[in-house]
Amino acid sequence: MFLKKKPAVTVDARLKHIAFIMDGNGRWAKKRSMPREYGHISGAKTFKTIIRYCGDIGIRMITVYAFSTENWKRPKEEVDAILKLLSDYIDDAEASMDENNIRLVFLGDKSIFPPELRDKIDHVENISKDKELLLNIALNYGGRAEITHACNTLMASGRTSVCEEDLSAAMYTSHCPDPDLIVRTGGDKRISNFLLWQAAYAELYFTDTLWPDLKPAEIDKIVADFYGRKRRFGGI
Ligand code: FPP
Repeated sequence: MFLKKKPAVTVDARLKHIAFIMDGNGRWAKKRSMPREYGHISGAKTFKTIIRYCGDIGIRMITVYAFSTENWKRPKEEVDAILKLLSDYIDDAEASMDENNIRLVFLGDKSIFPPELRDKIDHVENISKDKELLLNIALNYGGRAEITHACNTLMASGRTSVCEEDLSAAMYTSHCPDPDLIVRTGGDKRISNFLLWQAAYAELYFTDTLWPDLKPAEIDKIVADFYGRKRRFGGI
């Protein structure tokens, strides 16, 4: 609906859920002799473009890794800059709630955030809950922490033995199916504690493109690559 021209690809039910490790903002800024925060500002613009494009080509669920449990090790100015971008994005999402169709869900431990940000997150999750396109934003998220949290939740409910379905239902992602495809920008070929449980059968795609440089045309290429793969889920 926002596209100037027809997209080169459209997707079907085989690609319901795509996830992104948005890596390379810092290097993108460094190449321009700019502070890392500038890379995150540019990354936030790319995020909006890519989310919109994925929705336009028919992907119904998107998860992005915005801030990991390990990212607190970064300088305070950088952490503050990322959290400010997220807070601004929530404000924008709230202001444009009537024009867009995006349900926002935050994955991770929110208890660490100041009450104003927590309230903002709760509010936007609540007012967007009936929207059709799902956008999960992983924030203060770590895959191991999520699995640990799920185990503790199940034990606190009195369980002494659990099955895989119980664990899936206790994850932050219990409202959606596992990702079909996980894309990492920035050249590194690792998962970095992202969706460890949910990635069991995901296709993985690694690109050297730095996140701020990612364009819809590369999404077309990634989607075409995904459709060229045979997903056997352990079968033959
Ligand atoms: C990784 O790149 C990126 C992050 C830790 C932050 C991602 C944040 C954004 C894209 C902006 C805010 C997001 C939203 C949802 C509005 P890096 O800094 O590790 O890059 P480097 O590997 O080149 O140093």
